[in-house]
Amino acid sequence: MDTSKLMFRDGLMKDERILVTGGGTGLGKEMAEGFLKLGAEVHICGRRGGVCEETAKELMEKHGGKVVPHACDIRVAEAITDMNDEIWAKHGPLTGLVNNAAGNFISRTEDLSIRGFDAIANIVFRGTFYMTHDIGTRWIKGGTRGNVISILTTWVWNGGPFVVPSAMSKAAVNTMTQSLAVEWARYGLRFNAIAPGPFPTEGMSKRLAPDADGAKRMDSGTANPMGRVGEMHELVNLAVLLMGPGAEYINGQTIAIDGAMYNASGGNFSQLAAWGDDQWQAAKDAITATNNADKAQRTV
Ligand code: HXC
Ligand code: NAP
Repeated sequence: MDTSKLMFRDGLMKDERILVTGGGTGLGKEMAEGFLKLGAEVHICGRRGGVCEETAKELMEKHGGKVVPHACDIRVAEAITDMNDEIWAKHGPLTGLVNNAAGNFISRTEDLSIRGFDAIANIVFRGTFYMTHDIGTRWIKGGTRGNVISILTTWVWNGGPFVVPSAMSKAAVNTMTQSLAVEWARYGLRFNAIAPGPFPTEGMSKRLAPDADGAKRMDSGTANPMGRVGEMHELVNLAVLLMGPGAEYINGQTIAIDGAMYNASGGNFSQLAAWGDDQWQAAKDAITATNNADKAQRTV
């Protein structure tokens, strides 16, 4: 990211200690960089501990400050508790959480096995709740302020054909955001969400656009009125607005940042209805190769 395009002053986030789940790669890494650049202490977690370590090193070399990597699988409630015990004991209470970790892949729903559904729902639906619940209850017990952003998709409003487990799980996290914004406001806790349109990352592109036409589907003038994908600083500026001090009255909102794509063309994968068996098989083979390569790097 070009950090000169951040619209906020240096030092804005100096009183923040923020955990970004899935912060070792993609959008999580970009948000971690933005928070760090503006003065926050940042914690990142993922199953590939080595990837998080590399990211922490890279960001600290670039900006100084403190980025702490954690190997943690958010599908495992006990692993979340252990990580947060360590953060609270060694560093102090978090002030913010970004629920960014997710799993996703395109598939015809009739081709999904139960394990395929669970692979996504256990990360996005369950893992996001486990993390939010563990950290939220620490904030309530400790009487400290807290702020949560969840990274969703625009499918929470109009559905996600060919990514049904993701669309269902993200919609549930949207409901969690609206519910806890009300229920836990009395404890000084806030909940908002961001629904990005296409911001190409390796993790997303290899699982949602594994074919030769994939990139074109994401940003062509017909799909996106602005004729382009998102730029990372645009997303990070929105995350800072929601996570940093100064706009605390925003609570319970899910904000799209998609160049008006979902208004114009649904912003989802409805065009994949045209694919035949061969295209789906090729997509599955490519996605499986990506999954296996990532799996080989997991340390938890
Ligand atoms: C059908 C598939 C499949 C595919 C996997 N499965 N890929 N089924 N089509 N393409 C099935 C497998 O066959 C298996 O079921 C089950 O899913 C579990 O597979 P595993 O590889 O063992 O899963 P696991 O190790 O738990 O990995 C989880 C994962 C993986 C979700 C499958 O992709 C992952 O770890 N992803 C993390 C990163 C990620 O997805 N990033 C993208 C986020 S982008 P069987 O029955 O065969 O055993 C995003 C963007 C949204 O969300 C918006 C864009 C505009
Ligand atoms: P990504 O790079 O693949 O990010 C996903 C991250 O989640 C990875 O770092 C992964 O790390 C982590 N993760 C997955 N399962 C986990 C688990 N069980 N425990 C801990 N960490 C886990 O993809 P991305 O594009 O940046 O996506 C980030 C977020 O943005 C996701 O919520 C996605 O749905 C959302 N989003 C992205 C786009 C886009 O265009 N890129 C659009 C809309 C929404 P490990 O594999 O090491 O665990």
